[in-house]
Amino acid sequence: MSQNIHANLDIPAARVVSSGQTLYPAVDRVSAVAGIANNGGVASTSAADRDAILAEPGFGKYFTDHVVRATWNKDTGWTGGELISSKTSSGGFATQALHYGQSIFEGLKAYRHADGGIYTFRPEANALRFQRSAYRLALPPVPTDLFLGSIEALVREDQDWVSGDPDKSLYLRPFEYGSEDALGVRPAFDVTYVLLASPVGAYFPQGVKPVSVWISDDYVRAAPGGTGEAKCAGNYAASLIAQQEASANGCDQVVWIDATERKYIEEMGGMNLFFVYGEGDNARLVTPELTGTLLPGVTRDSILTLARDLGYDVEEGRITIADWREGVASGAITETFACGTAAVVTPVGRVDSKNSGTWEISGGQPGDVTMKIRAALVDIQTGTREDTHNWLHRIV
Ligand code: COI
Repeated sequence: MSQNIHANLDIPAARVVSSGQTLYPAVDRVSAVAGIANNGGVASTSAADRDAILAEPGFGKYFTDHVVRATWNKDTGWTGGELISSKTSSGGFATQALHYGQSIFEGLKAYRHADGGIYTFRPEANALRFQRSAYRLALPPVPTDLFLGSIEALVREDQDWVSGDPDKSLYLRPFEYGSEDALGVRPAFDVTYVLLASPVGAYFPQGVKPVSVWISDDYVRAAPGGTGEAKCAGNYAASLIAQQEASANGCDQVVWIDATERKYIEEMGGMNLFFVYGEGDNARLVTPELTGTLLPGVTRDSILTLARDLGYDVEEGRITIADWREGVASGAITETFACGTAAVVTPVGRVDSKNSGTWEISGGQPGDVTMKIRAALVDIQTGTREDTHNWLHRIV
């Protein structure tokens, strides 16, 4: 691993942090953010067109007028970021990321509160995870001040794209890729970081209605030592065929199982999973522990804390397909839900598979614990519940 590439990486950030600890420790707000030059020019979308988009944004279909871009070279390091038109694009057919997939991304959201202010949720956690993903893909880590500075600059510039509707938000997509035109198989000497923004509604078109899931017996998402805990483009490319199989079997999403024993539940699509044992105030939540092959979700981490705040017992552990099926059959497992930035908290209502049977959870309806957790999270994000963990970061 090149010393140069990782010279400014905070070492604990590169380590896997496992069970029992908060993965993204609460830190004081990072106040020093990099200045971003504004080379953006005027907005190209009319107010009328923007309003029409904001009325029905879907997910990831439309983009705001600007992006922030910064570049890195092996000799000069990072240059300061600049705000430019989102219609600007660069790169040729030999772009390294297109051939060898040296590419990582993040996802977080900006929310407009009733007071008109715009906030992001735990952006430092995304900055840290982005650095860890960079480490695994031999990319230079984007410094936290550049990451946060890009978010501040873009959200301020394109603030009219943040809807006041609490069911909508501005999805922020930071990504970084090897942008050198070169076919040698080695870490790129030129790297580009871009932040783009997309106004979004619900990720699943049906909103919070439970999703059905297909356990993938034939395909593996991540193996020990692989890239499973990095948010890299290749993980998502490798998941698409299993997602197609899920759809062909009438399911909304894939559930991945471990690569070695082929029995432990890992995660769902691009989201983490929680299993609810018991009911009411006595409920206990279990989520698959971070073995190095799961994505360490910021929403997952937040729910571990919020569930404890709500008085539930919470555990990170290993749960097999048989535990899930038999737990539901016996009534021990009462609910299952998925969580992620895009999906927020989404109930799982039905499981199907080639080798392990079919079962329904919670009568195919959203469970009470799931909806309580969802409300606790969304209320903080949208400013209607006290932010006791200092997770919100005001931008406007
Ligand atoms: C997210 O929740 O932000 C994700 O990364 C999931 C998906 C949209 C890729």
